[in-house]
Amino acid sequence: MSQLDELNRQIAFLASEGNTALAAAQNVQNCEGIRVAYLGRNGKLAGLFRLMPTLTDAERPAAGKLINDLKMSIESSLEAKMAQLAFSEIESKLKADAVDVTLPGRPLSKGHLHITTKTLRELYAIFGQMGFQVVETPEIETDENNFLALNIPEDHPSRDMWSTFYTTQPGVLLRTHTSPGQLRVMREFAPQPIRVILPGKCYRYEQVDATHEWSFYQLEGLAVGQHITMADLKGVLTEFIKQLFGRERKVVFRCSYFPFTEPSMEAGMDCFSCGGAGCSVCKGSGWIEFLGSGMVHPTVLKNGGYDPKKYSGFAFGMGVERIMILRHRIDDVRHFYSNDLRFLSQF
Ligand code: PHE
Repeated sequence: MSQLDELNRQIAFLASEGNTALAAAQNVQNCEGIRVAYLGRNGKLAGLFRLMPTLTDAERPAAGKLINDLKMSIESSLEAKMAQLAFSEIESKLKADAVDVTLPGRPLSKGHLHITTKTLRELYAIFGQMGFQVVETPEIETDENNFLALNIPEDHPSRDMWSTFYTTQPGVLLRTHTSPGQLRVMREFAPQPIRVILPGKCYRYEQVDATHEWSFYQLEGLAVGQHITMADLKGVLTEFIKQLFGRERKVVFRCSYFPFTEPSMEAGMDCFSCGGAGCSVCKGSGWIEFLGSGMVHPTVLKNGGYDPKKYSGFAFGMGVERIMILRHRIDDVRHFYSNDLRFLSQF
């Protein structure tokens, strides 16, 4: 066999061996390995070029062309293979990252207003219809507003009605009821007529149990003017109770005592649960009382800047939690502030 035949044989062998290797290449590194093995400085084709000196002068040009053709064919096959690998790499990456936009989304759990906020807003709406405007006054109060100006002197036994949180600052305390707001509003509005409701948090130094919290909401009402009578008070509270608990409610007023109202009365209704027969909601009495009220005491009017000879007024106050407990038959006042979602999400 001539040297040229031998060369041709080797070229044919390398061509088919190279194609097989490329076909089996799995990734870019495999291709790179093939490039080095065939086209590298010490690669298989370089080996062929080293056979050149063994050829005759006449054989050499044709042989050189054959080797070059092989080189070019391997180069272009490599290029095609690399492009194909790059493409399928992108392809599989896209497949792996694919998002199925037709899948249903994960539900977002939406929050909502606290039952206390919702209830307060209902109460605002009812009193709003009757011309009452909402005013907020501070939770940190003076002894003067919380007690003295409300006709509750120091050491007066009626202070026992409100167990008080005092601050380290003498004469400053956490309000035990919203009634001190009456004085703030009167001093601001005098001598104009007043029709306001005063919602807000109150604090009492009390042992916490199912019916007592040391922090709770009250809603206070105050009307002051030149022709206000007890009939107005009864009318407003009757309308309020019927709007909140139903038109069929029988409204009841009973004599009571508060130092800042004279006369004072407790307001309520027949039990909506048993209709008056007596049950656990009304504790067997058939009646439910939940409002303190009365005509503003002349001393309080005077302290607020209104002449009690010319002006009169009524005031009322209620516990907001007590209303919610009644309406929703909640068994424990502590639920309102324990932030237990099982409770909160029911409303
Ligand atoms: N402030 C009283 C209380 O906390 C309620 C009340 C308000 C009574 C207004 C009469 C008038 O019990």
